[in-house]
Amino acid sequence: MIDLHCHILPGVDDGPRELEESLAMARLAAADGIRIVVATPHLVPHAFADHPWIEESVTRLNAACREEGLPLQILPGAEVVAAPEVLQHLAALPRLGAGGYVLLEPPLVGLPNYLEELVFGLQLSGAEVVLAHPERTQIMRVKPEVFSRLAERGCVLQINVASLTGGAGRVTRRLAQGLVRDFPACVLATDAHDALHRPPLLARAATALRKLGGEARFREMTVERPGRVVGK
Ligand SMILES: [Fe+2]
Repeated sequence: MIDLHCHILPGVDDGPRELEESLAMARLAAADGIRIVVATPHLVPHAFADHPWIEESVTRLNAACREEGLPLQILPGAEVVAAPEVLQHLAALPRLGAGGYVLLEPPLVGLPNYLEELVFGLQLSGAEVVLAHPERTQIMRVKPEVFSRLAERGCVLQINVASLTGGAGRVTRRLAQGLVRDFPACVLATDAHDALHRPPLLARAATALRKLGGEARFREMTVERPGRVVGK
């Protein structure tokens, strides 16, 4: 499996603080059957243009995983906050792995009127867009048609495992189920931040998908479509 959204790099955001915590997450992911993790640290506007630390940190973590013999590859990426500045840095924004996709994070609270403009700008610049966990946003509760339009225009919707399994509450679960039911272009990801409270585990979502396409849909959302996103 491939996890497209994971805060696994040490000391860069609200994920793990030390390399040892990152390795604890890597061990969990590998034991869960995940073979590729895209490291997606939060990227805020002042870092849109210049982010060599992502590649450097990914290289260090890959070396540490190899040293332990973990069958896990870390790829560089970022979770790009959907701020108006995105439009000034379209070419410089990190892509997910070797693919052409940008992981864009819509705000959890608020109804920005520029989200669709950002996505179109990215698409015009040749990028493709994965929208991070729409089911967690206020937009999804108040103006779900925004995500319907974006999905129709080719965005991939990234659903969190915790949203589908109920860990984020009943409303969020119902919204996540609705997205999976209504839109074929969905991927599952962990949005993990640590080894304990928000762990990098994908397999537990298989049960939650039983009525939404079962094993075939689970595989499509955790192996096949993420594989196309990262170019694997
Ligand atoms: Fe995230």
